[in-house]
Amino acid sequence: MSEQTPETPQTYYERVGGHETFAKLVREFYRGVAGDPPLREMYPEADLAPAEQRFLMFLEQYWGGPKTYSEQRGHPRLRMRHGPFVVTPKQRDRWMFHMSNAIDSIDLDPMDEELMRSYMTNAANFMINSPDLD
Ligand code: HEM
Repeated sequence: MSEQTPETPQTYYERVGGHETFAKLVREFYRGVAGDPPLREMYPEADLAPAEQRFLMFLEQYWGGPKTYSEQRGHPRLRMRHGPFVVTPKQRDRWMFHMSNAIDSIDLDPMDEELMRSYMTNAANFMINSPDLD
């Protein structure tokens, strides 16, 4: 176990296992997206790997890890970046279904799991920019 002092509080990112944990989370999430045609069709690139990498960098930064996302992509402005995509409540549900499975796969402690799950739920709701189309 690494030594902790009040001056160097451990980040969430470090506490849950750092890069390996976040890499697994996004890998599992995109595995779900890849197998879900209505959701997969929203992603413009034939290869999902670059999108997976952007999401990984964003989440690592958000939870206290490396700031690579902002170095490469600038301010996240996530709602604006989702503007070109029609995010409906149904697509949110699909997104959240795969995210929930991905969260299950990383075996967090109950408190950390609840933090992650509620963050993702709120963020996904925030990204909705259209009513259901059917
Ligand atoms: C609610 C359902 C959501 C849908 C359908 C959705 C869909 C998409 C799509 C189609 C892209 C473009 C893929 C690409 O990067 O090429 C994207 C990008 C991205 N999404 Fe989402 N998203 C959703 C929610 C979220 C949430 C909740 C977060 C954060 C917690 C998030 C974070 C990101 C990030 C970081 C990018 C890359 C932004 C960049 O260009 O730097 N998304 N999303």
